[in-house]
Parts: sequence; C-alpha cells; structure tokens
Amino acid sequence: MAKTIRIGFLGFGTVGTGAFRMLQDNRDAIVKKIGLSFEVAKIGIKDTSKERGVDPSLFTTDLDSIVNDPTIDVVIEVIGGVDPAARLVEAALKHGKHVVTANKELIAKHGSRLVHLAKSKGLDLHYEAAVGGGIPLIQPLKHQLAGNDLVRMMGILNGTTNYILTMMEEEEADYSDALREAQEKGYAEADPTNDVEGIDTGYKISILASIAGGKQVAVNEVYREGISKVSATDIAYAASWGYRIKLLGIAEMIGEAVRVRVHPTMIPLTHPLASVNGVYNALWIHGDFVGDVMFSGRGAGSDPTGSAVIGDFLDVGRNIFAGGSGSAIPYDEGMKTAPMDDLETTYYLRIQVEDKPRTLGEISMVFGRHEISIAEMQMRTLPSEKGEIVCLTHKAKESAVQAALAEVQWLPCVSKVATTIRVETA
Ligand code: HSE
Repeated sequence: MAKTIRIGFLGFGTVGTGAFRMLQDNRDAIVKKIGLSFEVAKIGIKDTSKERGVDPSLFTTDLDSIVNDPTIDVVIEVIGGVDPAARLVEAALKHGKHVVTANKELIAKHGSRLVHLAKSKGLDLHYEAAVGGGIPLIQPLKHQLAGNDLVRMMGILNGTTNYILTMMEEEEADYSDALREAQEKGYAEADPTNDVEGIDTGYKISILASIAGGKQVAVNEVYREGISKVSATDIAYAASWGYRIKLLGIAEMIGEAVRVRVHPTMIPLTHPLASVNGVYNALWIHGDFVGDVMFSGRGAGSDPTGSAVIGDFLDVGRNIFAGGSGSAIPYDEGMKTAPMDDLETTYYLRIQVEDKPRTLGEISMVFGRHEISIAEMQMRTLPSEKGEIVCLTHKAKESAVQAALAEVQWLPCVSKVATTIRVETA
C-alpha cells in the first residue's frame, strides 16, 4: 500500500488554522499533485479548552510527543518566536522529520544552523511563509532568480505599518489615531512594538538578504528605525514633492558585503512600491540580468500565509514521493555587512526653528561645512514666532548628514530636528 504522509502541527493559531483548512478544502488536488495521501496526525497547542472545530483527539499539549513520534513524517511549525520553536524544530530534524515553518525570527536568527542540520540528514526545511505571507519570495530567490547578481531589493514587508502609513495619508490621521484604528481592525497587535519599530521587517529583509547573498546576515547588524516618528505633516510634504513614505526593508549588495536597513523611506509616486497600500506587501528586486521585478500580495493573514505553508508542504511531499534527499539549500553564517555610515542617498529633513533673521543662513552654514547641498526647500511660519524649514538634499553621505544634524540641533535658532527620512529613487 502506498505511504500516507503523516503531519504534526506545532501551534494552531492564525497561520496553523489557515494551513489546516487548505489541507481539508483542497485535499484531493493536493493528494493528486503529491502522488501520496496525507493525514494530520497530531496538533500541538498550549490551551486545549478552546473550541476549534477540529477533531479534539488530534490535540495535545505535549509538543515533544510530536517531534519524537516516529510515525510523523512532516512537522509544520507555526508557533512563532525562538523559544521553544528552535528546540522543537531541531529535535524534529534530529528525529528525521521534514520541517515547514512560518517562523521569521527563527529563520533570521538560526536559519543557517537549522538548514545545515536538515541537509545533513537529507531532509527538507522550508520557510516560504516566513516572509511576505502568501507571496512567493523565498523560492524565486533560491531558484528562478538565483543566477542574477541581485544588486538591490526593497520591500514593504509588514502589513501593519503599511496600513498605518496608508491611513495617515488617506485620512490625514496622526500616527496614534491610525495605530488605534489598525488595532481596532485587528491588523495591529495590542503591543505593536515588533511591527511599528521595524523588528518584523528586519527579520524578513535579513532572511531575503541571506538567501540573495548566500550567507546569513546577523540580525543585530540590520540598521533599523520604525515609523512612530513619521507625522501626517511629513506625509503631506512628501506628497507635495511627488513622494510617498513607506517602511522599507532594503538590502543592497556592495562587493562581497550587503547593507541591510529598515527605515521609513520616501519613494517617488511613480515607483511600483508606491502603489502598494493598506495591508498589502511587496518586494521589488533589481537583478543584473532580470532587471526590475516586483512581487506583491497579501503579506499576512490566515489564508495567504496558510497557502505558503502548504506550498512548502507540497514540495516536501513530492520529495517524499520521489524518494529524494530533500531540497533544502544550506547557507553559512557570517555575511559581511556594509556600514550604514557609508550610505549615500538623498535626505528629507524637517527642522523647527525660531522665525528670526539669520536662521536659514546659520543652518545652511552647517550643511555647507559638511558638504551637504540642498536640492529643494520649503519654509512656513508656525504660531508663536516659530517656523519650519523642510528640505530635500542632493546625494549626501549618511555620516555627514548625521554629523550636520548633531550640530544643527544645538544652534540657538533651532527648536528641534523634527524628522529625517531617507529618500530612495530606485
Ligand atoms: N505582523 C506582520 C505584519 C504579520 O503586519 O505584516 C506577518 O509577519
């Protein structure tokens, strides 16, 4: 009798239920595509008291009993976070199970070690759902685009922040109001830190950069700024100059190194990423042979992320059917990262000042001394004899801009440097 693939789920939250439903709803098509039947053997969860509309005998709170079960062939890890996911995934691989995971933090921090372990055992470890939800990004980077020298990638990789920034623009809302609305609609968590501070995007772009560069990027070498300092005022100024503000994860190859950064970014309205709004995600890639490519779609949610998990499961199932040794592609640790200080780009600066003679001259003097040239400028008067100077620079070095702003903020005519946003045109 032909083998039936036995699946164990670790976790059964938003992503797990989406994946499970897809296995149920599209069962016949999936069996046909794999060539083997499958069954969900066990589902590991924390709390058995919740009604989940699934045969209760499948559930267990003993997650180790899943990774140790000799009859389980494939473990689907959808718990998230490193602890206990790292230990359980490692145990599953050591016990000869293929693993599919949606866990970005796990792969960003331990991907190299775990994929090597999988490969050494002739097993699969796939993680398409870890980045961009339902959008196929990992497989195209590993396969179809792998022959390219990928010069640059820029991605909107977090739906929560993209929703907040879209609301701020469309409804001229403040950051805190847009965040509250995102929380009310279930797009942002009660503690939104991971999303709004760019931590989530940081994990995702470091995974993509690791695949493109062939070595794991250390998560703590990713430069990161969140969106909490972006204001509706900045969004309006950006629009007046033909730009939109997005939280981007950016990876650029610089010789043998890669610079990986996450920060609010002004992009021209004509850039394909500028029209990716709401909870949608997208990754724009420039490769030396393929040119510009963009992938977009739903970057989160039960069904889209479940779809990516099941796509990986099909890959694993086909390998099991073919009796192959797994298609995990290992990569080493130690990707060299290029320092942020050497970045050269253009900058949007909004500076609040005393509305008095010589203010503009004093600020210009500092910029001039640091070789920063202004390309465009707007000024307006604020109440109580205050003013605001808003400018776009020509290309300047990050270290020079930071040094200039450190001086500018202490000028007696300056109340504060309100916002600094980097501008990317391609
Ligand atoms: N918090 C993430 C987002 C979910 O907002 O996109 C998927 O990683």
